[in-house]
Amino acid sequence: MVTVGTVCKRRCWHPIYGLFLGCGALFIIKEIIQLHKTVEEKIIENVARQTFPLSEANGGTVDEEAAKSPGEIQQTRIETLRKVCQVNSLNKDLVISELWKGFFFVDQELKVVYCGVPKVGCTFLKRLFYVLSGKSRSKNPYDISANAAHGLPLETFQTHNDSEIAYFIEHYKKVLFVREPIKRLISGYNDKIRAINPGYWSGLGRRIIKTVRRNYSEISERCGHDVSFQEFLDHRIYEEIGQSKPDMHWDTVYRTCHPCMIKYDFIGKMESFNDDVNLFLHQINARKDIVLHEDYTSKLDNILIEVQNFYDRVNKSAECGLTFEEIVKRYWEVLFHKNLITPPTTLPNIQKTTTKEELTEIMIDLYHRQKATKTLTNKSFDVLKSVSKATIAKLQDFYKYDFEMFGYNKTEI
Ligand SMILES: *[C@@H]1O[C@H](CO)[C@@H](O)[C@H](O)[C@H]1NC(C)=O
Ligand SMILES: *[C@@H]1O[C@H](CO)[C@@H](O)[C@H](O)[C@H]1NC(C)=O
Ligand SMILES: *[C@@H]1O[C@H](CO)[C@@H](O)[C@H](O)[C@H]1NC(C)=O
Ligand SMILES: *[C@@H]1O[C@H](CO)[C@@H](O)[C@H](O)[C@H]1NC(C)=O
Ligand SMILES: *[C@@H]1O[C@H](CO)[C@@H](O)[C@H](O)[C@H]1NC(C)=O
Repeated sequence: MVTVGTVCKRRCWHPIYGLFLGCGALFIIKEIIQLHKTVEEKIIENVARQTFPLSEANGGTVDEEAAKSPGEIQQTRIETLRKVCQVNSLNKDLVISELWKGFFFVDQELKVVYCGVPKVGCTFLKRLFYVLSGKSRSKNPYDISANAAHGLPLETFQTHNDSEIAYFIEHYKKVLFVREPIKRLISGYNDKIRAINPGYWSGLGRRIIKTVRRNYSEISERCGHDVSFQEFLDHRIYEEIGQSKPDMHWDTVYRTCHPCMIKYDFIGKMESFNDDVNLFLHQINARKDIVLHEDYTSKLDNILIEVQNFYDRVNKSAECGLTFEEIVKRYWEVLFHKNLITPPTTLPNIQKTTTKEELTEIMIDLYHRQKATKTLTNKSFDVLKSVSKATIAKLQDFYKYDFEMFGYNKTEI
């Protein structure tokens, strides 16, 4: 049985993670985010602005909920949660440890507390709360780049004392967003490990290899670039059953957000993200001028960040022994996974000699041609085929409460 509040006493957080990922606001940057206009945006300024659905959303509704009204769905989700808490006697005293407080965002104007679960749309939701707070010039969360999301000056529980926190929990509307736990792990793996991400490889990647791989090569030990999904999960299991405490980014929602101790008023799901965000905005009577579609330039901005990443990271990746073809393959996979680019029928040819300007043109061209799709959920399940059934069964057991509390059926493998 997990004792909330003591979970993070030991090693479970490498400070550098906060810079790359993490819904926890460990680094409070006071600067106002510059809403810059890139050169590329200016080039295409005259192109008609198009709208696309939220890129982190999978679209659609959760199957078993299809016939219900949005209000009924919320009611059912909350009842399910409370029932599971009660049946398993999980209603205990709330203690949120210091580090964990960074996952709780509070907006005193809106009177909202948001528990930001990593890998569950938090990059978007943090930008949304920032826009809602009126501190941004923009009405569209996507005008703030995804990379800037984690540096936004949002208030968290870390800057409040216990009596204030108790007040917020008692009086404010409390919201969290959840996701099928295994898909959350897939997303984490794709973003941090599968992606061209030498910064993450050298931290987490190397640690995973040293922990779970029996016979690793010198280059894998040095780079941590070639962790398989099976190994990523083996490491997750190791954390859970071993002495090492889980990395906060993959930890259960149960331990991150204390859903039995805090009476959440709203439970959103990644699987019905668009609908849930809209309903939530309606319920908190949010300003009506918020633009929830990802418009042409801001989505492109995120794609162009990936173009820059490619050039920043390609040489370091090559030093890890990856061939250029492997780097490009992984690069595309992750662009598709992030839903930034819809897989085209034939992939453009990226070569060593392709310049950044040429790659930018390729991306703008792909961007023009693509249509909004809902392939994300479906595609991401493919990686499960590479993993042993025993592993999935174990993880389903570790995330048992997350499955039950939030009404997820365990995936048939
Ligand atoms: C908590 O903070 C509030 C606001 O800053 C302050 O008024 C109050 O005295 C503090 N309470 C305790 C117990 O420190
Ligand atoms: C370890 O891997 C190396 C190279 O991949 C191989 O030559 C060696 O036989 C392996 N050793 C064991 C004990 O499997
Ligand atoms: C990567 O390395 C090549 C030569 O190996 C060099 O020409 C190129 O400028 C480097 N790129 C970056 C972005 O450092
Ligand atoms: C993916 O989606 C298609 C069409 O919706 C469906 O036929 C197929 O079974 C799905 N595949 C998986 C692995 O869920
Ligand atoms: C989940 O499992 C329950 C019980 O086995 C079943 O009735 C329900 O249809 C399942 N839902 C989905 C979406 O598969």
